Amino acid sequence: MNHLQIAIDGPGGAGKSTIAKALAAKLGIIYVDTGALYRAVGLYVRGKNVEPHDAAAVTALLPEISLELRYENGVQQVYLNGEATGDRIRTPEMSMYASAVSAIPAVRAFLLDTQRNIAKTNGVVMDGRDIGTVILPQANVKIFLTASDECRAKRRWLELRAKGIETTLEEVLADMRLRDHNDSTRVVAPAIAAPDAVTVDSSELSIEECVARIEAIIAEKTGSR
Ligand code: DC
Repeated sequence: MNHLQIAIDGPGGAGKSTIAKALAAKLGIIYVDTGALYRAVGLYVRGKNVEPHDAAAVTALLPEISLELRYENGVQQVYLNGEATGDRIRTPEMSMYASAVSAIPAVRAFLLDTQRNIAKTNGVVMDGRDIGTVILPQANVKIFLTASDECRAKRRWLELRAKGIETTLEEVLADMRLRDHNDSTRVVAPAIAAPDAVTVDSSELSIEECVARIEAIIAEKTGSR
């Protein structure tokens, strides 16, 4: 049986995780946050005091890394060598580490099967940067979710503040622009919309409106309802 595959790609702060989570719950399928896998690789690399842009050094560490996605009370948890990563992968520093290691081809190849395997055995709403282009090119529905820079930075800043991470809006905006630039201009699997993706701009939409818009797209594409 073929499971439903919904790909949601786009830059950070566009609302991918919030929207994808809500959609997965409504559709009764699982939500896969693929950025967490790159973050977990970043966490390991940092723990080894390796420079995350050093492709050879990072690649040499990969055989030491074992990652597992588990669902605990419906919430995704990434296990790094048997240990839950929790909020340690959610810091601004880990955002930068994840972005740096994600440009390394061997890292992307290393994470490919983990992502594809979960979609083989479950219906998924998968969020990331290259889900529609590389990971699940046959996805039933592909959404490219975006929003203005200012709007995305504000959302990310509020999220960080809620977690007790002190930073300024200007810092978040600057980090975000740098990361977007790295992610969308890298040679392997750049963060761009698949040709058959539908672009949704969430700047002026509430969460509910955005979910409703995407639900309508899913219904239209899958012929349901
Ligand atoms: O979605 P996020 O902010 O947790 O992702 C962290 C970094 O990982 C992001 O800067 C780019 C990278 N990433 C990627 O290259 N491909 C994905 N499918 C998901 C994330």
